[in-house]
Amino acid sequence: MISPIVSVPRTGPAPGTPALVDALEDGAVLMFPDLDFPLSAFEQRFVERPFADGKAKNVNIRGAASTLRGAAGTPEEQEALRQVLIRYRGFAEALVAEHLPAYAGKVTFAGTSYRPFDVDRRKMSWRRDDTRLHVDAFPSNPIGEKRILRIFRNINPDGQPRHWRVGEDFSTMAEKFLPRLPGYSPLSARMLAALKITKARRSEYDHLMLHLHDALKQDMTYQETAPQADVHFAPGQTWVTFSDLVMHGAMGGRYMLEQTAYLPVSDQARPERSPQRLLAKALGRALR
Ligand SMILES: [Fe+2]
Repeated sequence: MISPIVSVPRTGPAPGTPALVDALEDGAVLMFPDLDFPLSAFEQRFVERPFADGKAKNVNIRGAASTLRGAAGTPEEQEALRQVLIRYRGFAEALVAEHLPAYAGKVTFAGTSYRPFDVDRRKMSWRRDDTRLHVDAFPSNPIGEKRILRIFRNINPDGQPRHWRVGEDFSTMAEKFLPRLPGYSPLSARMLAALKITKARRSEYDHLMLHLHDALKQDMTYQETAPQADVHFAPGQTWVTFSDLVMHGAMGGRYMLEQTAYLPVSDQARPERSPQRLLAKALGRALR
């Protein structure tokens, strides 16, 4: 089954729409067509040209001090851009509180990013090529027993949509790829942590997700022939998904805001629907 897009207009979802948390945990993308996030006259410049130093893919804020990284512009412009990102984090927090109240107080809001570049403008290595269908995994930042929840918004001023592909459900994908993945070595995981290559010990789950991410992106036959659908997110639309569960590729579009949040597996409505438990189920044993 291809990941469904569930529209959640301000007037409420259509009758028969499953509870939003259920849809999300089952691998849907929730799309909010009409939430407000206005930019001031001064802030309009951030969607007219990229305020990025060009070294990284995005500009972002992180940490308690919300330090801005990767930005370009005058000090005044950079401070204004930082404030847009802080405001967007508040917008994402409010969205979770209102529409996903079961997660309120359980989700940790991490990095917030401004993505001014067209996805296919920069030539990436296959591993960093996010036009290829994948699930998110972070090489240096082990996730362990947490889920990756992401809140995106298209702020393009010229009507240009954000073009995504979404793929088949996680378990069907994992069944095809699990037999090809290398085995997990607790010893090498301890070494990576000791050498500070990873910020914490890479669990077997993290190991599997990294190798899944790479195996998916390297398999061009799968990329071209796997079940998939094109989705276009129009300017003004906001979408929310578990990007560790939903197969996705970003095909085009520029000027977007993104908030990353983490949810402990144990705080899901049904933890058995996490990729952690789905992989354990597919292997027929607990993960190490
Ligand atoms: Fe991704």
